Amino acid sequence: MLKLNLNLLSYYRTIELFCLIIMLNCLIVGHGAREHVIGETLVKGGAKLFSFMSFKNAGLEDLSIKIKIHSETDFKEIIDFSKENKIDFAVIGPEAPLVVGIVDALEKGGIPCVGPKIEAAQLEGSKVFARNLLEKYKIKSNVMSKAFDSMDGIESFIKDIREESLVVKPEGLTGGKGVKVYGDHLFSKADILEYCQELTNNNNRFLLEEKCIGEEFTLQTFVDGKTVLGSPLVQDHKRAYEDDKGPNTGGMGSYSLEDHLMPFITQKDVDIALEDMKKTVAAVKAETGVEYKGFLYGQFMKTAKGLKLIEFNSRFGDPEAMNVLPLLQGNLVDICWAIINGNLSQNFKFEKKATVCKYLAPEGYPVNPKKDESVNINKKKIDEIGAKYYYASVYREGENIYTTTSRAIGVLGIADSLENAEKIAEAGVECIEGKLFHRKDVGTRKLLQKRIDHMNSLLNS
Ligand code: AMP
Ligand code: GLY
Repeated sequence: MLKLNLNLLSYYRTIELFCLIIMLNCLIVGHGAREHVIGETLVKGGAKLFSFMSFKNAGLEDLSIKIKIHSETDFKEIIDFSKENKIDFAVIGPEAPLVVGIVDALEKGGIPCVGPKIEAAQLEGSKVFARNLLEKYKIKSNVMSKAFDSMDGIESFIKDIREESLVVKPEGLTGGKGVKVYGDHLFSKADILEYCQELTNNNNRFLLEEKCIGEEFTLQTFVDGKTVLGSPLVQDHKRAYEDDKGPNTGGMGSYSLEDHLMPFITQKDVDIALEDMKKTVAAVKAETGVEYKGFLYGQFMKTAKGLKLIEFNSRFGDPEAMNVLPLLQGNLVDICWAIINGNLSQNFKFEKKATVCKYLAPEGYPVNPKKDESVNINKKKIDEIGAKYYYASVYREGENIYTTTSRAIGVLGIADSLENAEKIAEAGVECIEGKLFHRKDVGTRKLLQKRIDHMNSLLNS
């Protein structure tokens, strides 16, 4: 019996040793809550984590073997750090380094990457590129749009489309805050012309595009160049205040449901959205010669006229990454390798659970945020409640956490139902004290019902 036990013990030791030997050194580039949850999921998959960030994320610091605080677009430094630490592959979290070619640079330096190369990242980096591609390849969820770099032709375009059906979108990255929608931010033809004039004066190219009316959802996918695999749908809340009031933000919170759909989005809708994303990935290859690899985020709106593509992002969403990655039943390290090697297959699933993520932001955010305010987290109580939390734009000095000018901490509840996930997230929020606010309505039945009623009224009118 003793001999058998010893044999078993040495068997397990061998397995453990084997796992240690194949533990990969993974680099995460980025410093927000999205990178915190990606890092956590890589570590769960057995990775040894290294982090390269322009601003120290306390969560990533705790998870990492080694960190470096330096500009996320200084590619030489990233390559040097990767070589020093024998990095097997890098995952690029945010869009900013992607659209200026981090993947091209790192791969040239011998570091395989999860993220699109510069040509493919234009899907997010250039709204004009994305719209033109969708039009050229006849991808159905596209909307009518036209690019401008002066005031020439604007009046006649407004006349054709009608001012109340217009959206103005500056070219380039705007953190979701440069887009102005008629009825939300612009209230007359004069407002539209004024904003176009401002963009023209700043030499900023822009799009005028057809305004869609409906309900938005996010579909985040894993892409290996050809294969595009989806994850549970998520709905984000862009407006700063309850009941969708106030200025646009990076996102104040998000939810997903246990069936991975939305009550107003059917499986057929998801199939259509996924099909359009597959066609887009194929179009990127046909147009640029470069395969799209990494994560691709599709933001769609269901309207009375069908599904419409609002925008693509070349990365996971923030907060939406927090809704899907903790549900992953599979190994993110393996998925990353499959993306790099171009042999992604559906050998992973997501738990059939609902999630609610609530962002705590500094009082005054996004207009006049209170920075350098201390934040107290009762970690023991959060753990007891079963909520999770992810650091965004906060910094740590000693044991203390302080706010900056952006979203502070994402608090996540996971449960069998939306009601319970929301309760867990709200109870988690209660464990964090400071000059912060959050949207209590995110993930509530009441707000969900409002969305359902809105969709029904559009579809039945
Ligand atoms: P984006 O930066 O493209 O995500 O735009 C920010 C927000 O503007 C989106 O989340 C939408 O709510 C809104 N938006 C963008 N494009 C349109 C559109 N064509 N129709 C209606 N709303 C839009
Ligand atoms: N939640 C919006 C974004 O990640 O772009």
